[in-house]
Amino acid sequence: MSTSRASLFAGFRRAVALSFVSSLGFLASAPAALAANQSVSLDVPYVPTPPDVVNRMLETAQVGPEDFVIDLGSGDGRIAIAAVKNHGAKGAMGVDIDPKRIEEARENANTAGVADKVEFRNQNLFDTDFSQATVLTMYLLPDVNVSLRPKILQLKPGTRVVSHAFDMGEWESDVFERVDGRSVHLWIVPAQVEGRWKIEGPDGAMELDLAQRFQHVAGTAHDANGSTRPVAGSLNGEIIDFVVGEGDAAKRYTGSVRGSAMQASAGGQALKGAEASAGAASPVADWKGARL
Ligand SMILES: C[S@@+](CC[C@H](N)C(=O)[O-])C[C@H]1O[C@@H](n2cnc3c(N)ncnc32)[C@H](O)[C@@H]1O
Repeated sequence: MSTSRASLFAGFRRAVALSFVSSLGFLASAPAALAANQSVSLDVPYVPTPPDVVNRMLETAQVGPEDFVIDLGSGDGRIAIAAVKNHGAKGAMGVDIDPKRIEEARENANTAGVADKVEFRNQNLFDTDFSQATVLTMYLLPDVNVSLRPKILQLKPGTRVVSHAFDMGEWESDVFERVDGRSVHLWIVPAQVEGRWKIEGPDGAMELDLAQRFQHVAGTAHDANGSTRPVAGSLNGEIIDFVVGEGDAAKRYTGSVRGSAMQASAGGQALKGAEASAGAASPVADWKGARL
């Protein structure tokens, strides 16, 4: 184990110990779990998520019958098993590098009667293809979360990602909750909209030059008269909500993004940031856009 990894392990235990007095029992068992299987090099020590936190993670991600849940570093399988058994997910997969954990997880899935819907794979999470997840769950370490971030941002827009305890660096979570003194973060993978777009609406056509930072969008709108206005907005998966212009002249556009097209969505879900910057402006009723 590298020095930085060793200090991260120490940091993990320290962070958990400082914040979560209730974890002390788990912490006491972690070194024993490591000692029992010295041949496996773990990027994160085994510390299970308490059942109430598992439940809230899956509730926050709104897991339901359409979902396939993947838990990265699945331990005894509790998150993947609960996703299917208690939240009705159509299927789940857990991956863990430690064969002992996989053995336990398979036994637990059998006992829970969900072995036909939950698969556990003994593999490294960094080598795992998790593109089929509609919900991704994790209880890892801050640097592991951040190193997974580029791959997570390539997932289908709208995929929910939920983490017990740790954040994902500069990608702020869309939802943050505290449960029994633990932190739960939820991110919704945003559509990719950076670049130039042509938007057509009731006021004619304009070109947007958009920059994107995770779920935040900013840029400039140019219209046919040569005037420019600022653009600011947010993404929630495929839902985009942006404001063009400022003050009383501001116009709000709410819609959905599908690849290189975007268009107004009836009753589109407004996002807090865009709503605030648009004041009382109601969304432009009918508009569409295409990538240039
Ligand atoms: C903090 S535990 C979380 C267990 C479970 N997800 C939960 O919340 O109860 C982290 C798990 O990640 C596993 N792990 C560590 N490094 C890994 C790696 N590179 N690939 C896959 N699993 C790993 C450990 O064996 C451990 O079971």
